Amino acid sequence: MARKERALFVCGECGHESFKWMGKCPVCGGWNTMAEVSNPAGAGSRTGVGRGAAGRRGDGHLGADPVPIPDVDEAGEQRVPTGIGEFDRVLGGGIVPGSVVLISGDPGIGKSTLLLQVSDRVARAGERVLYITGEESVRQIGLRARRLGIRTGSLLVMADTNIVAVDEQIRRIKPGLAVVDSVQTMADPELDSSPGSVAQVREVTGRLVRAAKEEGVPVFVVGHVTKSGAIAGPRVLEHMVDTVVYFEGETHHAHRLVRAVKNRFGSTDEVGIFQMRDGGLFEVENPSEVLLAERPGGEAGSAVVASVEGTRPLLVEVQALVARSSSGTPRRTTTGVDYNRAAIIVAVLDRRVGLSIGFYDIYVSVAGGVSLSEPAADLGIATAIASSFRGVPTRRATAVFGEIGLAGELRAVNRAELRIAEAARLGFTRCVIPSHNLRSLERDQRRELGIEVVGVGTLRRALEEAIREV
Ligand code: TYD
Ligand code: MG
Repeated sequence: MARKERALFVCGECGHESFKWMGKCPVCGGWNTMAEVSNPAGAGSRTGVGRGAAGRRGDGHLGADPVPIPDVDEAGEQRVPTGIGEFDRVLGGGIVPGSVVLISGDPGIGKSTLLLQVSDRVARAGERVLYITGEESVRQIGLRARRLGIRTGSLLVMADTNIVAVDEQIRRIKPGLAVVDSVQTMADPELDSSPGSVAQVREVTGRLVRAAKEEGVPVFVVGHVTKSGAIAGPRVLEHMVDTVVYFEGETHHAHRLVRAVKNRFGSTDEVGIFQMRDGGLFEVENPSEVLLAERPGGEAGSAVVASVEGTRPLLVEVQALVARSSSGTPRRTTTGVDYNRAAIIVAVLDRRVGLSIGFYDIYVSVAGGVSLSEPAADLGIATAIASSFRGVPTRRATAVFGEIGLAGELRAVNRAELRIAEAARLGFTRCVIPSHNLRSLERDQRRELGIEVVGVGTLRRALEEAIREV
């Protein structure tokens, strides 16, 4: 490939491109994040899609011809289901040919395990699958496959870190699915930077994207994340691929949430829920039930929040422990809920409800390694904290949800009906919700839900309804 003489610099944090080196990225403000990358002709385009069609053609004009939208070929949209429902849900209904999916998450969370299981399913459906590993030996993959009970002949394993060789094999074999584990271990020997550097990751991904688009082969790429939670090395990676899927959960917990944070072929709302067991990752069919299974009965400091992940209702237990502080500065820790959100809720409990918890240590956590990011969880957090502080358990079979405002008011959230229905389904008999949500539920709907729904306007009232005495 002809290379332009001019150097190109890319910011490893935000992907900003520049022809000159700068100590500070002008876009994201990161220091020392600009690194030189090779600049093949046209590398300015991030995805490389359609690059093949560029250039002056025989008929004398440049580039591709515009096409009327009804004439656009839909053939490329034929999805291949992986046969693992929870994973298909995250992808938006299966694998799109020629798409590139980045799978990221902490080390040891289960990326390789899931991809090996997906590879097996696709291979068993009659496709050839090429699993390329730069992390483990063929023997190690073989041993893992054996442990997972995988012995499908059309699943091919290759251990290599040379992206040129990998590219060649993908184009030669044209598998129904190619997996590259991981992008940080692959490198182009012609570049002098080391594997995992901005330049290499960009080159490797660029090559895989071109191979995927030109051959119509879907490619799954594993990308490691750094301690701060970003995909290691360049953010550029996220711009280059079609879909970015994150693994959430904690390695010492059994549950894994798989979530699409970017998806050119579907919504980014859906989550898939898995459980890590001896035989690999298993789909969780009834997540609320599993998540609530270990809930202690009748203890103070526990509340069940009816939350929604994407379009799926999920009942989750929030636990809090409020303890007298032994030092001048009280300790606050949160697991699974946003630290700042919890701090606001503590302040509202203190100032608006009159719970003098300012000088207490407060610990909040979500059971099962799940993380709650939606505002509807606010009431669950507040209820758990108030319950622990008072030493009084929440009322029996009561679930809560609602966003808390700074004035101590309870604000409406979306999908109230879905949340209430899930609570009813799991045997809850009361649900404390924002009064605005209750008003918008039709009378008939309320009766059909078969559960007592209590609408309240303030956090103070909500706590009176949710906890036996406040
Ligand atoms: P792995 O898929 O190698 O993680 P990643 O590729 O994201 O780094 O998963 C490794 C962990 O999963 C390891 O700690 C062992 C555990 N595991 C099981 O519990 N059961 C299994 O069947 C397998 C294959 C792994
Ligand atoms: Mg791995």
